Amino acid sequence: MSDATQPTQATEIAAAVRQVLGDSLGYLYPAALRVALRTDIAGHLTDGPKTAAQLAELTGVHAPSLHRVLRFLATRGIFREDTDSAFHLTPAAHVLRTDVPYSVRSTALLLTDEMYWKSTGRLEDTVRDGSTAFNDIFGAPLFDYLDQNEESARTFHTGIADLSAIEQGGIAASYDFPATGKIIDVGGGPGGFLRTVLANNPGLHGVLYEQDAVLQQHQLDDEAIAGRWETAEGNFFDVAPTGGDIYVLKRVLHDWSDDDSLRILQAVRKAMSDQARLLVVDAVVPPGNDPHPAKLYDVAMMTIFDGKERTEPEFKELLAAAGLRLVRVIPTPGTVSILEAVTA
Ligand SMILES: C[S@@+](CC[C@H](N)C(=O)[O-])C[C@H]1O[C@@H](n2cnc3c(N)ncnc32)[C@H](O)[C@@H]1O
Repeated sequence: MSDATQPTQATEIAAAVRQVLGDSLGYLYPAALRVALRTDIAGHLTDGPKTAAQLAELTGVHAPSLHRVLRFLATRGIFREDTDSAFHLTPAAHVLRTDVPYSVRSTALLLTDEMYWKSTGRLEDTVRDGSTAFNDIFGAPLFDYLDQNEESARTFHTGIADLSAIEQGGIAASYDFPATGKIIDVGGGPGGFLRTVLANNPGLHGVLYEQDAVLQQHQLDDEAIAGRWETAEGNFFDVAPTGGDIYVLKRVLHDWSDDDSLRILQAVRKAMSDQARLLVVDAVVPPGNDPHPAKLYDVAMMTIFDGKERTEPEFKELLAAAGLRLVRVIPTPGTVSILEAVTA
């Protein structure tokens, strides 16, 4: 029996074998990236190229090992080695710097933190029985674990806030906010997105609804929005503040299972008047085989949170179950979309 997908040519077989073996060692890439992040190689290259020996001297690490890691990263476009063995910044290396507005350094430190890689190492358990690997390894669901582990909480919230800082301008500009009214950001983190929306829309007032520990780190003390915001502490599974014209759930629902997401949506639905709108801001999984960040993050979500990235029909169904109607899906310049919903 012949199968059209079976490689027959030696070159095809060699390419398939090379792909699978390369993918089998794919975990080396985030490990190497983490070394570069932790030693701040990008920061040390800001004032010009340096050899691995010079970088090792500056960072206090083993020079030959650092050279091998940087040579490997250069194969992925992070740093470039010249013929004099000096390493240079590349566009992908620049985003690892701390001193640029588009820095993903803290987000990459979060995504390569043991909270993520240890959980991903147990992906097979998650697939076999549907359990959340993080909970087994760390002894509690992620947000409960963060309550007890200050350093991990700092790593998590800084990584998420810095990711938000990069995308929030594009998201805020993608939606036509009303000239007046109240916006309530449910699970809004330290409030970077709310601050951006309020700064762009001087007639709006805002409420940052979060857990107490996160509210203590809020970023709303900004002259541009003075007197137009307040914070509210609470549990979004139980209740959401009333009186909002626009409710926002940005990068929240993907942390949770359908059952838990439904509880959050029901709490928000209960708080909404018939004129209010809900903006769910999350990645939407597209159909087809093409790569998309949502398909990547989706696999991480199942080992860490019992969460998931969703397709548009899945969002529509979830919203409908909470008494909400999906009106439209608005793309943003980043990986997330704005799903606008009204009361059904
Ligand atoms: C992935 S973060 C997203 C933060 C922010 N919306 C953003 O896009 O950057 C999820 C947020 O949900 C908050 N959260 C988790 N459980 C919560 C609860 N039970 N009640 C209120 N907020 C909660 C967390 O503190 C965290 O800031």
